This record gives sequence, C-alpha cells and structure tokens, in this order.
Amino acid sequence: MTFNCRSLLSIEELSRDDIELVLETAWRMKEVGQREVKKVPTLRGRTVVNLFFEPSTRTRTSFEIAAKRLSADLVNFSASGSSLSKRESILDTAKTLDAMDPDLVVVRHQVAGVPKRIADVLAAPVINAGDGAHEHPTQALLDLMTVREEKGEIAGLTVAIIGDIAHSRVARSNIHAFSKLGASVRVVGPATLVPPDIERLGGAAAGAVKVFHSLREGIEGADVLMALRIQRERFAGALLPSVREYAATFGLDRARLRFAQDDAIVMHPGPVNRGVELAHELTDHRPSVILDQVRNGVALRMAVLYLLSGRSSLPAPPEAQSE
Ligand code: NCD
Repeated sequence: MTFNCRSLLSIEELSRDDIELVLETAWRMKEVGQREVKKVPTLRGRTVVNLFFEPSTRTRTSFEIAAKRLSADLVNFSASGSSLSKRESILDTAKTLDAMDPDLVVVRHQVAGVPKRIADVLAAPVINAGDGAHEHPTQALLDLMTVREEKGEIAGLTVAIIGDIAHSRVARSNIHAFSKLGASVRVVGPATLVPPDIERLGGAAAGAVKVFHSLREGIEGADVLMALRIQRERFAGALLPSVREYAATFGLDRARLRFAQDDAIVMHPGPVNRGVELAHELTDHRPSVILDQVRNGVALRMAVLYLLSGRSSLPAPPEAQSE
C-alpha cells in the first residue's frame, strides 16, 4: 500500500486506506519506542524543520522526539527571534527555508490555510501541526490510534466530542477521522460554541454527525468522551456567561460518566483546564487515557514523518533496522 499524499494538511483529504496505512505504520513505530535503545537509522541524513508560529508543548516536542527516534536532524524554528519579528512575510520565510533544502517541514500557525500556502511554495512535504480552527490531522490520527487500542474496532462506536467546537481544529479533524472509519459522532456543547453547519462535516458519511446542547443527552450511551479545551485565546467576546457555569453544565466528572457506557473512555488533547472541562480525578485516572494519547503521539508522528519522507511501504521489522 502506498501513502497517496505529498503533504499531510488535513484529515478531510485522506482516504480510509491512507488512514489505515498511517495507523498500521504507527503501530510498528510504537514498538521502537518500547525498546531500550529507542532509535532506528531510517531517516539518517534527512532534515526535519519544526516551524511553529503558535505555542505548543506536546505537538512540537513529540515531533522532535519522533524525528530523533528516526535519526533525522531536527531544527526548531520559532516565530519570536526570527526575521518574522522584523516583518518578513510568511511566504518569504518559507522560501528562505526552502533554499536550505529541508526534507520535511512541520507547520503550526494561528491562521487557517497557512500550512497549505507554505506547502505550495516548498519542495519538501509539509505536515500541518494545527492551523487556526481548521485542522490538526496528527492529533486526530493519534486519537484514532488510542481508541483502536482501547476498543479494537472504530466502526459502530459512538464518539461524543464535547466543548468548544467552534474554535477547535481538533474537533474538525476528529469529526472527519471518526466518521470516515464508521463511528457515529456527536458534537456536544453550548449553542454559542457549536457552529451551525457542523453537521455537514464528515463528508461521505453524511448524517453521521449529530449536535446536542445537553451534556446528558449527548453522552448517553457513548463509548468515547472527548473533552476539548475552552480556547479563550481564540474568542474575544462573551460566548460563555462564565467558565464556572460552563464547568457546571458541560464539565465531566465521575458522577456524569454514569450516563455513558460503563466502559467509556475519556480523552482530551491537552492542555486541560483542570476543573473546567474535566474534574481533577478524571484528568489523572482511568477511564481517562490522556497520557496514552501523548504516548501514541510520538509513534504516530514517527509514522507520518516516515511515510511522507518517500518511504511508501511499511518498514521492515524493526529488528532488521536497529543499529
Ligand atoms: C490542541 C491544539 O493546539 O490544537 N492541543 C494539542 O495540539 N495537543 C488543542 C488545544 O490547544 O486545546
């Protein structure tokens, strides 16, 4: 099987087969991370550039660890301290980078569409690490990986995505990802934080996305509860009466979990506003799988770097590759 995209810009553009190939490759990469020496020579001599115009802890670090586990050279480029603070345009920055011949470029930007514009001028493949409220494809892929690990099959599951849907690229990518693999997706949140046309996302599997403005109804019988951060940096106005009221109506705690399936899992892309989206006891303990998401993020990003670097088939068994 070959990976059909030159860059990874969105889940919307991926086929089911592309998604399956990434997940299968990630599974093999996870094995590398469980060894004593967590490194294979696969991308030796390749250069990966992390181009982050927005703050990030998990995503930037896990791309860095992923690149290093594959023996690539990694350069971190952050907007402050670069010529961007001297008003160089993004496209000029991209062209300058291009002239240095990177092999892969990872881009996060606060404006939707910037990774695509950069991909249009760069010779190297681009990975979107989050663009505005548009998409965050590697997050959705690591979420699929985590759910598959916990539940086996994704088709037939009910996944409730709860919270600030309007400003969330994680929500958009996950709506596409889970509906492409046959899950029913529910979007749960206050009317001010759920965009009116969200049910139309999910493409081919139209009708797979349903909106709920009551937490109880939205999580009733759900297998996966995915809480999202209230993205206060993305909305200036009064979309919420107060954070305390949000926590009282849409925050998850153990008592509310009883409406979901008995074996439901709780996810969050991080960073968590503790006591707002999730009660403390849920953030730290099962059925929360937040740290499994982070762990899988490294393997998943290794898989994406590997597949986009021009390796089109699955890696040889890791034993054969180790140094
Ligand atoms: C998310 C992001 O930045 O889009 N975090 C992440 O990548 N793990 C979600 C968020 O910031 O709330």
